[in-house]
Amino acid sequence: MQCRRLILILMILLSSMYTYTFGQSTPIQFDSQTRVFRINGGNTSYIFGISNANTLQPLYWGARLGQTDNLGPAHVGDGQSAFDLPSGITPQEFQGWGAGLFYEPALKVTFPDGNRDLVLDYVEHHIDDNTLTIQLKDISRDIFVTLKYQVDPATGVLGRSAVIVNKTKEPVMVEQAAAGTWSLPDSTDYWLYYLTGRWAGEMNVQHEAVRPGARVIESRRGSTGQQNNPWFAIERGNSNDQDTGDVWFGALAWSGSWRITIEQDPLHQVRVTGGYNPFDFGYKLAPNEQLETPVFYGGYTHNGIGGASRLLHQFELAKILPQEPKPRPRPVVYNSWEATEFNVTEQGQEVLAEKAAKIGVERFVMDDGWFGQRKDDHAGLGDWYVNKEKFPNGLKPLIDKVHALGMDFGLWVEPEMVNPDSDLYRKHPDWVLNFTGRPRSEGRNQLVLNLARQDVRDYVFGFLDKLLNENDIVFLKWDYNRNWSEPGWPAVAPDEQKKVYVKYIENLYSILQELRAKHPKVEIESCSGGGGRVDLGILRYTDEVWPSDNTDPFDRLTIQDGFTYAYTPGVMMAWVTDSPSGANYSRLSTEYRFLSSMQGSLAVGANLNHWQDEDFATAQHLIGEYKEIRETVQHGALYRLVSPANGSETSATESVAADGNQAAVFAFLHSSQLGYPYPRLFLRGLDKDAQYHLHWITTNPDGKLPETASGAYWMEHGVDLNLSGDFQATAFRLEKAH
Ligand code: DGJ
Repeated sequence: MQCRRLILILMILLSSMYTYTFGQSTPIQFDSQTRVFRINGGNTSYIFGISNANTLQPLYWGARLGQTDNLGPAHVGDGQSAFDLPSGITPQEFQGWGAGLFYEPALKVTFPDGNRDLVLDYVEHHIDDNTLTIQLKDISRDIFVTLKYQVDPATGVLGRSAVIVNKTKEPVMVEQAAAGTWSLPDSTDYWLYYLTGRWAGEMNVQHEAVRPGARVIESRRGSTGQQNNPWFAIERGNSNDQDTGDVWFGALAWSGSWRITIEQDPLHQVRVTGGYNPFDFGYKLAPNEQLETPVFYGGYTHNGIGGASRLLHQFELAKILPQEPKPRPRPVVYNSWEATEFNVTEQGQEVLAEKAAKIGVERFVMDDGWFGQRKDDHAGLGDWYVNKEKFPNGLKPLIDKVHALGMDFGLWVEPEMVNPDSDLYRKHPDWVLNFTGRPRSEGRNQLVLNLARQDVRDYVFGFLDKLLNENDIVFLKWDYNRNWSEPGWPAVAPDEQKKVYVKYIENLYSILQELRAKHPKVEIESCSGGGGRVDLGILRYTDEVWPSDNTDPFDRLTIQDGFTYAYTPGVMMAWVTDSPSGANYSRLSTEYRFLSSMQGSLAVGANLNHWQDEDFATAQHLIGEYKEIRETVQHGALYRLVSPANGSETSATESVAADGNQAAVFAFLHSSQLGYPYPRLFLRGLDKDAQYHLHWITTNPDGKLPETASGAYWMEHGVDLNLSGDFQATAFRLEKAH
């Protein structure tokens, strides 16, 4: 008897231990009693439940909660008044448009009989390690939605998407489809960050209070766009400190037309819904056909907007980029565009390559102009054969020369476009986006090939595959220089044509994926006349992006600052170009230009034939210095010490290496005023008890700083830099003593 009791006690003890460890180590749990899901990752908990009405209701999103904290069960209460029904004011994870819903739906459909009411109930779920799938179904019709939640255990960043399946016997029209809705904890003191811009003026950070009503950020352009970027962050309170405060953030992985709606409803509840842009959207789902939404990633941090960026950077490097979890550092690149524009020739490129190799460039990229009858932007796009006048013996002699100089070779392409003045267009005028009998609006004298068509997709893949088979090319700069107009697809039935918004991008991704699989050593840059196609969708297939055609080093400080709110500096290509040139014709020193670019992935885009000996010497020195800090800048933790935005006279960044052994600091001065000294910089992210040795990156070291000091000194005492005058810059690195 005694023995049996002992065994029983032991079993209870063991089973409670098991529950405890199980609870700690499993990122996704379901409590069947309260019907509550809990997703833990990083320092974050995301909790929602199945309500008494059988709908999925958010319960909590924020800092990690205690394992035994009980938030359930989810409950749909009474409506606010006859004007706000319970179904309309109770937050949901994924709300169909129906039953009195007035805020942004995640899904809106029209059935052939005219019914447009959709109410989605929980059916079942499945947990597989880091992934939770939940099936929902309309209360009476066979429309199924499978929600997918995938958590990154390290950062807590959660990826959400939905698959909509028509299991009725007739087609239904999907008019709106989002990945889902993020609901924030109740507060009336939320501040929204988002990014706006235009060609040559991308990535401006906007910051405003969240007010009743909706703020919509979107692209209707067929691609991501420069005007808004599919990223947001919301901070509770209006903290002046980059690195403290509660911040919720998200980014949509889609390179076509998209929309994110941030809304505060009449009860002050704040939610964010994102997915396909419903403008001009209509995806006809035949019986048994399905539509998958883009993934909407979201995360939370207690460490302010700076902490939000760092988490997102870490997540992008570890989970998004094609070379995840440890992308190779970006090589130092030379690009010919600003030096020669379309006037590329074998001899001219070889001269540039020789000069580039001498300063330490690792990859030589020939830009636009090498193919078809391309003399300017009026002709040639679509004809992807080597221009014999410019390269009589093909690309091989140039590529061999570049290799002999110790660099690898990359090439510019713009696969999705065609000039009307091209053999391709003369042969296939029906291959472009168009409405029958209507004008075809040109942008930069070009039209958009309809990549949604299988024959166009095959043509594009085919010529790229051939190019890579026949030439030793390890890098493609993939350009895309206009947005859509007249987005018709006359080859398919009228009610299928709007599928172009989805099919085009799916085919784009599939080409990129297949190319990478067939040519594993090839890396790709996403460029769209600058930063017109930067998003977490394209970044799954591309190793870097071109943030802007504006290469003015002073303007770049603001563009780069905004860029890093959403994207890791590791993918941010930054060319050093000529001065004066570009947007503002300002005269800036070679050193200033380099230091601006060294905050991202350093490249040179200047006409080296115009450089003097001292420019080459400075370049060689700074490229050498960059190689010492590149891992830190590209893959480390970024602290934005002073923002260049809103006409700031000064700006500064600091990057701390992932292992904490190095920090790189860049500081810029626009113009001294009234004789004031440069403001003291307080570094961040160091170990206060460790010692750090100072090493100047610039050629004119500033003698006032200690050669060695503690982390506490650099962070608490701070650094006084001797910067005065106009357009001045300096940089140093700290090395941790062991
Ligand atoms: C636009 C890109 O952003 C530039 O860098 C350059 O590649 C040109 N296109 C070439 O046409």
